[in-house]
Amino acid sequence: MMKHIPVLLDAVMDTLGNVHGLRILDATFGAGGYTRAFLDGGASVVAFDRDPNVFDDANFIKHQFGERFEFVARPFSTMGELNDAFDAIVFDLGISSMQIDNPERGFSFRADAALDMRMSGAGPTICDMFEQWSAGDIAKILREYGDVRPAVAIANAIKQKVPKTTFELRDLIHNPRDVAPVFQALRIALNDEMGELERALMAVPDLLKVGGKCICVTFHSLEDRIVKNTFRDWTGVAGDPRLPNVSRPRFELIRARTPDKKEIDRNSRARSAHMRGVVKSY
Ligand SMILES: C[S@@+](CC[C@H](N)C(=O)[O-])C[C@H]1O[C@@H](n2cnc3c(N)ncnc32)[C@H](O)[C@@H]1O
Repeated sequence: MMKHIPVLLDAVMDTLGNVHGLRILDATFGAGGYTRAFLDGGASVVAFDRDPNVFDDANFIKHQFGERFEFVARPFSTMGELNDAFDAIVFDLGISSMQIDNPERGFSFRADAALDMRMSGAGPTICDMFEQWSAGDIAKILREYGDVRPAVAIANAIKQKVPKTTFELRDLIHNPRDVAPVFQALRIALNDEMGELERALMAVPDLLKVGGKCICVTFHSLEDRIVKNTFRDWTGVAGDPRLPNVSRPRFELIRARTPDKKEIDRNSRARSAHMRGVVKSY
């Protein structure tokens, strides 16, 4: 299985500057690529991940870095429960190469496996949800999260004979171009990826120290829109300038970045990545 290559890590490190002595929240530990770069730079890190398959890597890093590293095995939407303050909060969203490349996780249409798609390995699988959702629910998911044109036809086909494996799902999609968007849309819905992001972002302003930065790397246009609109709201760009705004923490936008050709050539998963950031100015 391919090890996860961190995306836009140079841009993130460049945006953070010297991290020595900083306290950083890594919302998406994954293979620990970002976390390790922060720790190597001399920061202390609190890292979240809801996937139990990353626990071994997290333990390994814990042995190496001791008190400078703490792992939280929970969804990042619960970060508001932390009684802590950070110099930076970093999200590297979506799924990791380990998740997509492991056929048993049922995320990929490239290998035949049981339809699962649970990031945390707990709760109902996508297959269970096909029984619970109506054809209308499924069509809405395919349209909203995948921009899938034949959403209704695919949703009806799913409800007619619920697919149990990745290949059964793949085979009921007529146009091969729709396969990847269908799989991605279902994964996003099952794991409530947009809701998780919205809830986590709500906690960020209070968790950041003055001068602290929030950086988000996104891979999906809806994710990117949530981040862009939230940051706009915090910086006051979208707000009504006539309204008093004294109690809201003030933020400034940091230059957005996308991967250059060299990074995309080296790592095709970087293709759709966007990095956005804000700094809390007072
Ligand atoms: C793209 S990977 C992160 C890769 C990491 N930056 C690295 O360099 O190795 C995304 C990770 O975030 C985790 N994740 C996604 N949504 C999450 C959520 N709501 N709560 C906690 N972890 C989440 C996934 O399980 C996955 O391991």
